[in-house]
Amino acid sequence: MKQAVLHVDKHFPLGKVDKRIFGSFAEHLGRCVYGGIYQPGQATADENGFRRDVLSLVRELGVPVVRYPGGNFVSGYNWEDGVGPRDSRPSRAELAWGVIETNQFGTDEFAEWCRQAGAEPMMAVNLGTRGIADAKNLLEYCNFKEGTYYSDMRVRNGFSQPHGIKLWCLGNEMDGEWQIGRKTAYEYGRLAAETSRVMKMLDPEIETVACGSSFWTIPGFGKWESDVLAECYDTVDYLSLHQYYGNRENDTPEYLANSAAMDRFISEVVSICDAEKAKARSKKTIHLSFDEWNIWYHSNEQKTERWSVAPRQLEDVYNFEDALLAGSMLITLLRHCDRVKIACIAQLVNVIAPIMTSDAAAWKQTIFFPFAYTSRYGRGTVLQSAVDSPVYETKSLGDVPVLDIAPVWDCEADTLTLFAVNKDLGEDVKLQCDLRQFSGYGVTEHVVLMHHDMKAVNTEISPETVSPRRTNRSSVENGVLTALLARHSWNMIRLKPL
Ligand code: AHR
Repeated sequence: MKQAVLHVDKHFPLGKVDKRIFGSFAEHLGRCVYGGIYQPGQATADENGFRRDVLSLVRELGVPVVRYPGGNFVSGYNWEDGVGPRDSRPSRAELAWGVIETNQFGTDEFAEWCRQAGAEPMMAVNLGTRGIADAKNLLEYCNFKEGTYYSDMRVRNGFSQPHGIKLWCLGNEMDGEWQIGRKTAYEYGRLAAETSRVMKMLDPEIETVACGSSFWTIPGFGKWESDVLAECYDTVDYLSLHQYYGNRENDTPEYLANSAAMDRFISEVVSICDAEKAKARSKKTIHLSFDEWNIWYHSNEQKTERWSVAPRQLEDVYNFEDALLAGSMLITLLRHCDRVKIACIAQLVNVIAPIMTSDAAAWKQTIFFPFAYTSRYGRGTVLQSAVDSPVYETKSLGDVPVLDIAPVWDCEADTLTLFAVNKDLGEDVKLQCDLRQFSGYGVTEHVVLMHHDMKAVNTEISPETVSPRRTNRSSVENGVLTALLARHSWNMIRLKPL
């Protein structure tokens, strides 16, 4: 059995976890909105057409913030199409995904749905085909109390109270060649700066997110971030990161190493932000919004009939190894909690999502479990830690640790929670940790997600093939934690004074 040692010290905090790192994303894409969160007439739908079975899983998943309405969709979206009486809302040719958008669900429905889901809305404005005026109008519609054209329109539409949306994304992936209204870094940086400035004139309490690169390896990564921030450093609050991974070569060790790639991506963006801070001689620190992350490759061959309504798109069925990587990516986000303040698993329902639906049922994909546990128990302070872990060699990233670990200390609840993934496909790892500063702590719970078949999936007829269970493979003796982490497993170990 391999051995590893974790060193933690509660006097060396890394940072407090912002609960918004457990956010998600609902785009008008495929069956995420239509047939996912909204399906009037479905057996569990409420009077608003919101599926109660989905709402209940969303609450269990634990997403304090949901980004909306895109994604690529937002760059061609007229928000006015999606408000007011439903029978007068227009259907439009939606160019980002080649479908018909009926606009039966829009801004007000989303704000109401968020209230029921217990989530804060994170709204994106269209900086592809539209610009400053429309962004300001949407903000006025959402946040202005009353007595103006757009706030009175909201009141007439049945929402007397403002939606009070505090988080705003300034467009989406504006460097991408697929993006409607793509821009150069200078064009986008200026537009982001002015849009953010004007929106904050209307509502100084909002926070804004500027678009970083669409993914780490896109040509132009780094320069895009610098050039955009050079224009908008003073007026925006966050810079976005997006990244999806896939096991396209069917090489599991290489695939699971991608959390190390994510780690480097975040560190590099932090460095770029701080370089711009130094150049601007600014006192302000730009934080990161990793507002699209997940695994996306199973559905790459999926065909869609063009100009259909809410077809199946990007419906990845996640397997067990995907859950391991998702668990590792969450650990990576925790280990950067000093700078990553917002993160959104993309997406929420049906479209590259932890929750799937049919007309009859809703069920949990494999990636649901590490997310739900990390969101629920990964609250508090992440402690700086040193891990003596065995490593393995990869083609793309050199030596990568076999273990990903994040310790989270909740001083109010007096609990220490360790999240750990053992990526070794052949051997268990014996993890030890000296708990001298956590005197009297013992293990209250060790939850493990493990399956012998890396490709096992959950389906409508077999929704619990991959599901977590409790194990008693960890204990504390003489102030030292010993945990046996099964080969290829995700683990959560909770400790408190006994
Ligand atoms: O999440 C799916 C798509 O991925 C989003 O619309 C876009 O922002 C990204 O490229």
